[in-house]
Amino acid sequence: MRNFVTIEGCEGVGKTYQTKLLKQYCLEKGLDVVFTREPGGSDIAEQIRRIILDADNKDMDDLCEAFLYAASRIQHLKDIVKPALAQGKTVICDRYVDSSYVYQGLGRGLGLDKIVRLNEIAVGEYMPEFTIFLDLSPENAFKRKGGADQSDRIEAVGYDFHLKVYNGYKRLIAENPDRFEVIDASGTKEQTQAKLREVLVRRGVLK
Ligand code: TMP
Repeated sequence: MRNFVTIEGCEGVGKTYQTKLLKQYCLEKGLDVVFTREPGGSDIAEQIRRIILDADNKDMDDLCEAFLYAASRIQHLKDIVKPALAQGKTVICDRYVDSSYVYQGLGRGLGLDKIVRLNEIAVGEYMPEFTIFLDLSPENAFKRKGGADQSDRIEAVGYDFHLKVYNGYKRLIAENPDRFEVIDASGTKEQTQAKLREVLVRRGVLK
């Protein structure tokens, strides 16, 4: 879908911080870009996010989790993404279907095919024009972050899971080379931000 950009990456890669800098830049430049995130991004979707990430919900079934992410996605599309795109705006979304493919499909082991099918129902034609992957291995990401946040149910699951997620992204990138833009995020925050802007300018999102 034209003007719909998603940003992906493993835990601790600095995705949220980079997106914040980008948002400030767009505001200063007067660019009409909508920044949003998943899971959440709108009232009902944020309520679903709280259920998914609540550390007390440790008995949540993996398939239930996959459906909740998809449910949050449907609501967020309706409330935020579709109206903004219909008004001709650019939407930059922090995480989208690729997160479900790798976290639920490959990390949790539900299978990529099943999660792709589920998300086809959830998003229909609303696939991103392109997806930026901030590339940093979980080893380096956790070193940088000083360990996982134990109050976050997904972050707390352990290193092996996050390695599966990282390798999952690598697989998706290999299978969809035209959709992914890979950015090395191992340098300084400023270097990563510069690379991010360079990609968005080249793709015609930023001027
Ligand atoms: P965040 O830390 O980027 O806000 O994302 C919240 C967590 O949700 C993060 O651990 C990744 C996870 N996640 C999934 O497992 N599947 C999904 O579809 C999405 C959007 C996020």
